[in-house]
Amino acid sequence: MIVLYSLMFLGGYVSAAGLGLTCPEWPLCPNGIMPDEDYFIEWMHRLVAATTGTLVIATMIASWLNKNSDNKIKLTSSLATVFVITQITLGALVIDMKLHAVLVAIHLGIGILLFSMVLLTTLFAFRISKISIQSKI
Ligand code: HEM
Repeated sequence: MIVLYSLMFLGGYVSAAGLGLTCPEWPLCPNGIMPDEDYFIEWMHRLVAATTGTLVIATMIASWLNKNSDNKIKLTSSLATVFVITQITLGALVIDMKLHAVLVAIHLGIGILLFSMVLLTTLFAFRISKISIQSKI
């Protein structure tokens, strides 16, 4: 949740500061893995997006592998995975289409859906762990 929130904050900054096209290539910026400072903010948005994607997919895999996992967690983490993959693909399209307004608006909309699913997954996980602690007392 913290990584995703930071990513949305960075995205808002990229948009408001007009930095959306500072890094015109995809998936890496010019100069590869360690781009120079001109691309830093947009490159950070991509790096944190890749980290978010890894964490969301890992949560979904863990929820399906865990026999005791609740169906609600499986559902919300799977939806989060669908949204994160859509969002990363859309991020590339936003750049390819030179920040087309509709695509940027959809990018924000799916970001909010993704945030909701990660929030629900977190709330369900805390509620379930609280119930299992109480049942042991
Ligand atoms: C989980 C993945 C991602 C999330 C949650 C996310 C979220 C956001 C958010 C909330 C914004 C601000 C939108 C606005 O204020 O209208 C934004 C902007 C932006 N994102 Fe992402 N993003 C993700 C991945 C990516 C990726 C992989 C790219 C592609 C390289 C990308 C490219 C952009 C660009 C270029 C903008 C600025 C658009 C503009 O200048 O108006 N995003 N992102």
